[in-house]
Amino acid sequence: MRKEIEYKKFIEALSKDAGAFLKCRLGNIGKISYKGRINLVTDVDKGCEAIILNKIKTAYPEHRILSEEAGKDGADKSGYLWLIDPLDGTTNYVHGFNFFCVSIALMKDDILIAGAVYDPMRDELFSAVKAGGAFLNHKRIKVSGIRMLDKALLSTGFPYRLGNSMRQNIDNFVKFLMLSQAVRRPGSAALDLCYVASGRFDGFWEMELNPWDTAAGVLIVKEAGGHVTNFKNESYSPFMGQIVATNKYLHKKILSVLKKRPLKRLSI
Ligand code: IPD
Ligand code: CA
Ligand code: CA
Repeated sequence: MRKEIEYKKFIEALSKDAGAFLKCRLGNIGKISYKGRINLVTDVDKGCEAIILNKIKTAYPEHRILSEEAGKDGADKSGYLWLIDPLDGTTNYVHGFNFFCVSIALMKDDILIAGAVYDPMRDELFSAVKAGGAFLNHKRIKVSGIRMLDKALLSTGFPYRLGNSMRQNIDNFVKFLMLSQAVRRPGSAALDLCYVASGRFDGFWEMELNPWDTAAGVLIVKEAGGHVTNFKNESYSPFMGQIVATNKYLHKKILSVLKKRPLKRLSI
């Protein structure tokens, strides 16, 4: 456990440094390019990633890395894998909508052992270590106790590809609008997960996510007492696209709504 706690401290410090970079470059982004029709990447994503990669490679040159913009790095035999999203919420960032973060996680032999998500605009550092709890600014956090869907505040996100998953999630969104207290679509999957962990949201679902979007947040939710699976209720791995993360009490209800057929179109 001592080693895991050391990793957590390293990740916390690194997330704060990277987040400070995001905050100071807000409004001064530099080059913006497109990875798809609506999928943006900026000089800030890449600059922030360079800060993170440089520090990890210096401290742990033998570890493997999977990072959103730079891809895979290293061919290690130690079993360690870093999963990095240097800027989760790029669309928000580009528009000056202050909901974005840095997300960094570490796996050992395919098991998440430490992670942090840092929101520099609110100075909120969410972190967790396997079997050691989840924290917001170093204070223990736990999921909500809400058990009724009509009392629940939920969140989701939509994929960049405008295909079947997009259509399916629009249907899911409508179903939950009718059944829950409210649904939000904030635009940062990593923070959505941390908001489930800290009881601000009672559940979150999304499709077509990548390992760097969810790895740190999933550990934080689990360590805060939440439950995370895919839509088939199978135990979640960051390499699955679909995710359902809840306070555990609402898990079955949310899965059953995701299985239901779309509601008939509302007429107004
Ligand atoms: C995106 C955000 C968004 C989610 C997208 C992600 P990015 O990550 O997490 O909330 O809906 O699916 O790709 O591109 O801002 O790092
Ligand atoms: Ca992301
Ligand atoms: Ca990103």
